[in-house]
Amino acid sequence: MEAAAYQELRIFSGNAHPDLAKAICSYLETSYGACEVFEFSNENVFVRVQDNVRQRDVFIVQPLVSPVNTNIMELLIMIDAMKRASAGRVTAVVPYYAYGRSDKKDQPRVPITARLLANLIETAGADRLLTVDLHAGQIQGFFNIPVDELTALFMISRYFKEKDLKDLVVVATDVGASKRARNVAQSLEAPLAIIEKRRLGNDDRSQVLNVIGEVDGMRALIVDDEIDTGTTIINAAETLKDRGVTEIYVACTHPVLSGPAVERLKGAPITELVVADTIPISKEKHIPQLVQLRIAPLIGEAISRIHTGRSVGELFQLDMEEDSGDPKVPNAMVGAERG
Ligand code: R5P
Repeated sequence: MEAAAYQELRIFSGNAHPDLAKAICSYLETSYGACEVFEFSNENVFVRVQDNVRQRDVFIVQPLVSPVNTNIMELLIMIDAMKRASAGRVTAVVPYYAYGRSDKKDQPRVPITARLLANLIETAGADRLLTVDLHAGQIQGFFNIPVDELTALFMISRYFKEKDLKDLVVVATDVGASKRARNVAQSLEAPLAIIEKRRLGNDDRSQVLNVIGEVDGMRALIVDDEIDTGTTIINAAETLKDRGVTEIYVACTHPVLSGPAVERLKGAPITELVVADTIPISKEKHIPQLVQLRIAPLIGEAISRIHTGRSVGELFQLDMEEDSGDPKVPNAMVGAERG
């Protein structure tokens, strides 16, 4: 590792995804910081940092996953504890940013919770945010501190490039997802189709209105930022089957898999569901179609670059260069695990 811009790097984790934090430590060949984080019987969260963090470059790994609101509080309280323990710099590493869909006032008298959460993270004392595939890139602008947003799309594209599926069309689940899907389509040299989707009310229901583009007789790769209740993906898959698609693959960065998602997916016409491990997936949710790609090397490399003051954007330029031979580029770091 090159010379550090800040003193010694320290990685800590709340209770959201300690395995990811450990995998990041192992990529960085560093030890896992000691910190107690637990809830009293009255549900108040308690944090005690057990390592000296004075002047250290601290990274707190905490995706905002279920139980979402508890994990948010853990993150905020850990940031506060680090600052009060005189950490030199604190980076909130939030591989999955919850409330991302609440990013605008699209109905009367609703909050912008993604913005509120940004304010809370800053107020707690974070100096930077490192995250992966935000629901909307504009959420970066809710922060007045530097935000580095990584993407799992390169490693997802690489995975499918290696599969070399014939007659492939990449499908965006809605207009909002079309930019992401277009990037994947470009890298796989496949055409793009877009589903026109409409949300019905506030209870996770949605309806497919139309499919824009040729899909008949083709294999489809559906791309989205997250799979939550599965409604969007399953509606898309069923519509594509009706339109003559022969086989369906799905790629979503974040496997939220809440509520009925797993039961629904079991019967869905989907050959593979490819996700990143930004969110822990319990054993009961390991459906046979699931393929998990490891995000730790990408996050670990970004942390190393932030710590030593090197470019993070360069990671993605390197990724574009085929066969660069550089073991540090995300392309070289794809690892898959079957569900
Ligand atoms: C919505 O705009 C997002 O991109 C995803 O399509 C959505 O979060 C998926 O949710 P669900 O699986 O509940 O349909």
